[in-house]
Amino acid sequence: MSVSIHVENVVKQYGPVTIIPDLSVDIRNGEFFTLLGPSGCGKTTLLRMIAGFNSIEAGTIRFDEQVINAIPAHKRNIGMVFQNYAIFPHLTVRKNVEYGLQFREVSKAEMATRVDDILKTVRIDEYQDRLPERLSGGQQQRVALARAIVVHPSVLLMDEPLSNLDAKLRVEMRGAIRDIQKKVGITTVYVTHDQEEALCISDRIAVMREGVIQQVGGPQAIYARPANTFVATFIGHSNLFNATWSGGELRFAPGYACNLGDHMRSDAREGRVVAGVRPEEFHLSDSGTGLAARIVKTTFLGRYVNYELAFADATLRPDQAAIEFSQDVGTAKRVFEPGETIHLEVNPAKINVFSEDGISLMRGVAP
Ligand SMILES: Nc1ncnc2c1ncn2[C@@H]1O[C@H](COP(=O)(O)OP(=O)(O)O)[C@@H](O)[C@H]1O
Ligand SMILES: [Mg+2]
Repeated sequence: MSVSIHVENVVKQYGPVTIIPDLSVDIRNGEFFTLLGPSGCGKTTLLRMIAGFNSIEAGTIRFDEQVINAIPAHKRNIGMVFQNYAIFPHLTVRKNVEYGLQFREVSKAEMATRVDDILKTVRIDEYQDRLPERLSGGQQQRVALARAIVVHPSVLLMDEPLSNLDAKLRVEMRGAIRDIQKKVGITTVYVTHDQEEALCISDRIAVMREGVIQQVGGPQAIYARPANTFVATFIGHSNLFNATWSGGELRFAPGYACNLGDHMRSDAREGRVVAGVRPEEFHLSDSGTGLAARIVKTTFLGRYVNYELAFADATLRPDQAAIEFSQDVGTAKRVFEPGETIHLEVNPAKINVFSEDGISLMRGVAP
């Protein structure tokens, strides 16, 4: 039986160093939940705490109602998949999958049925008598997944399972993993640093930074209304502008203003703010209104054109990797060249406004 996971005020220290200062999150029974964040932010550390491979310095982790802090890893009924497949090279695919069941009280007949089922579910039944060395990376990862789920674990934990695969296979396998998880319905905690992978595979995502969860939510909700500027720039791209908020109007530094209706929180303080605009949320203004921008670089990508832009001094927040506008080729009248000046307006329903210290001021955004 699959379980819900409740992480409450957990702390992780390695010696004197605190990696996770105080983390709480609830993961629902049967959901595909992803821990997403830059390398070194503590994703693996948290996953290993759930698995039982790491001590928990404070706080509790529960599976449903049961506190599992003191339960050893092998008694937590967990399936795990890592980036290095950890399958046995000297055993056939079938024997690899059977391996997990050998230590369980399962009859020979039931073992055969369960292994047959799983091999079909992950679509490697036709390779069941092969040795792993004769499989592709994606197929080996399917074997690892089959071995993890054949034991009917309460929880499936996956740590960057696709990072050793090439780009095309990664895209194919993330679809396969999502389909398989939906079919078996096991509560899954998935770790990745790849925001695109997280967006397409997850029911919900927790965005982490330096051991602290920044936001929890569904992929579309997080993308549309990031809780802070870290999330806004880590998930997808956001251009960050200097702006002021006053009298119900958002005014960009060069004077362009737009009315945000009731998208802003009613208690947002007036004064200097940061406006986040995604590359696809600009549109060209034919009348010369909006923000004037110079094209620095044009990259044609087929479905859309990506422009790197330069704005007048003091328009933008400092220290941004790139300022981008993406133009939909399907509706574009023409493609602009470097050196040209264009005028851009923004979609007020899509803008995200943050306080100067980067916290969302939009209505209904919960961290
Ligand atoms: N066994 C360990 N001893 C000391 N520090 C560790 C250990 N494991 C991880 N760390 C540190 O904890 C931090 C988080 O690591 P990790 O959880 O592996 O990050 P992520 O999986 O998000 O890349 C890093 O700074 C890492 O160096
Ligand atoms: Mg890791």
